[in-house]
Amino acid sequence: MCGIVGYVGPRQAAPIIMDGLRRLEYRGYDSSGIALLNGHGLDVRKAAGKLSVLADELEGTDTSGTIGIGHTRWATHGAPTTPNAHPHVDQSGRIALIHNGIVENATAIRKALIARGHEFTSETDTEVLAHLVGELYEGNLEEAVAAALRDVEGAYGIAVICAEEPDTLVAARNGSPIILGVGEDEWFIASDPSAILEHTRSVVYLDNGEMAVLNRDGYRVRTLSKRHIDKPVNQIEWDLATIERGGFEHFMLKEIFEQPESVENTMRGHLLEETGDVRVYGLKLSDEQARRINRIIITACGTSWHSALIGKYMIEELARIPTEVEYASEFRYRNPIVTEGTLVIAISQSGETADTLAALHEAKSRGARTIGLVNVVGSTISREVDGGLYLRCGPEIGVASTKAFTSQVAALALVTLRFARLGPMTAAEGRRYIDALSKLPAQIREILDRSAEVEVLAERFADATNALYLGRGVNFPVALEGALKLKEISYVHAEGYPAAEMKHGPIALIDENMPVIVVAPRDAVHGKIVSNIQEVRARGGKVIAIVNQGDDEIARLAEATFIVPETLDLLTPILTIIPLQLFSYYVALRRGCNVDQPRNLAKSVTVE
Ligand code: M6R
Repeated sequence: MCGIVGYVGPRQAAPIIMDGLRRLEYRGYDSSGIALLNGHGLDVRKAAGKLSVLADELEGTDTSGTIGIGHTRWATHGAPTTPNAHPHVDQSGRIALIHNGIVENATAIRKALIARGHEFTSETDTEVLAHLVGELYEGNLEEAVAAALRDVEGAYGIAVICAEEPDTLVAARNGSPIILGVGEDEWFIASDPSAILEHTRSVVYLDNGEMAVLNRDGYRVRTLSKRHIDKPVNQIEWDLATIERGGFEHFMLKEIFEQPESVENTMRGHLLEETGDVRVYGLKLSDEQARRINRIIITACGTSWHSALIGKYMIEELARIPTEVEYASEFRYRNPIVTEGTLVIAISQSGETADTLAALHEAKSRGARTIGLVNVVGSTISREVDGGLYLRCGPEIGVASTKAFTSQVAALALVTLRFARLGPMTAAEGRRYIDALSKLPAQIREILDRSAEVEVLAERFADATNALYLGRGVNFPVALEGALKLKEISYVHAEGYPAAEMKHGPIALIDENMPVIVVAPRDAVHGKIVSNIQEVRARGGKVIAIVNQGDDEIARLAEATFIVPETLDLLTPILTIIPLQLFSYYVALRRGCNVDQPRNLAKSVTVE
């Protein structure tokens, strides 16, 4: 969502903060701002639009100051205008505050402050919080922030500075991530490690209800009620190259091409070839505990929800455990039934998605055992689940999720095998799956080597204004994911459907201008999908089919085909999604869209 960076140390803060914001721009990019303390009071600069607008405004001006905070915004309260951009200052103009999250009781606080003479210049909840801190300030910023936060309901990650305390930066967290970076005689605050990785790999993760007080001599962590907390310093394992484009035009393309390695990394160390089993200690489920699981609920949002659907097919087919998939945002508000023996799996690339986190809390409060399939190490979901599996696919910066999806499906395959081998799956069958899983990275590479074919297809269909994606069985969620990718980055309206559902309504949309992308590997439902393709052709629809080698039947019917290597039916999504990711990328490129920063979106959605 929004990006937060702060700096205290001997160096000039502005370039460090602006570089950090550049790395965080994928989290929100509709406006930005920076506040510096330079010995002559508070210097606040803000601009609507991309970060480059702010950078242009700073260019050639005095940006001195060795302590400061900066923010890139994804609008929640109020339009993305300069007045609504962060930092916001208090009534006296001496305190500046940046914020990620939503203050839920902002309207009530705003009303009370107005009654006491406060005037506001923005529509944001953040300005309300800045004024509240200012009103409570009696010469001690740390205490003013703590007092204000005791009155606040909702989620926040904040950083605050004050002209009267030019050596202090206060940060706090409740729901929205804040990390503290520990350098050599310098300290950082960020909402995401990528902002500060250039300067330090040593980080402290703040937990909910905690505050960090940074000054030129070091830092302390405390609760709102002043209890000191000793926090461990963790080491970030990624290196800088993983968060740079490395010669690719866009992060999305780089991440699509990383999938042979990222899928391999997800599975590394987990596959036991000889026994046809998997070793996933992170799940923290003994054989006995795993055998007691009699129902699984998988909860997630967006792309992660699509991988969850694939997980359902896998788990029910191979482990024979009834599995439901729930949108996290629905699960938490619908009084879900969680019985003894229910396992709740939360899937999230970022590990910070507010809806998924809330669903996890709901599940835990009802006594469910929980596991997380999460990419970002140290993220909130990864720390709150009972056990889990890191995807280990490296930082995903492109707003459209790609490599996280294939890694999620691979991780779900591991979870499935863990349960299946305790149940109906024989060692021989297990070995077949392990063998097929180990071949996937090379098979993904084969597809990527033919990306130029997809580029040609995208060229042909880039002017379409609608697209239909069809798939059956385990490739129905792939159709959903393909459609989501196209919508997100090229703004072409696209729908995903189970192929047989088409005749119950969507078929009315089909004409000669409608590309219909059919995911049709040679699997158990292949014959059925051939009939669905015929139905599309009969209405003049143009079929692009994702098929296996030698599928002459579909080749005869389709306008164009793209061949993917064969694998076991349940693992086909890891291959069939790759051409669809490439297709949406190349269509977006042809349409002149901003692939890595599509309009209205943000990478990690930390508000409800
Ligand atoms: O970080 P998460 O996996 O929890 O994020 C969930 C969704 O917000 C995310 O997958 C979103 O749909 C992506 N933009 C899809 O490309």
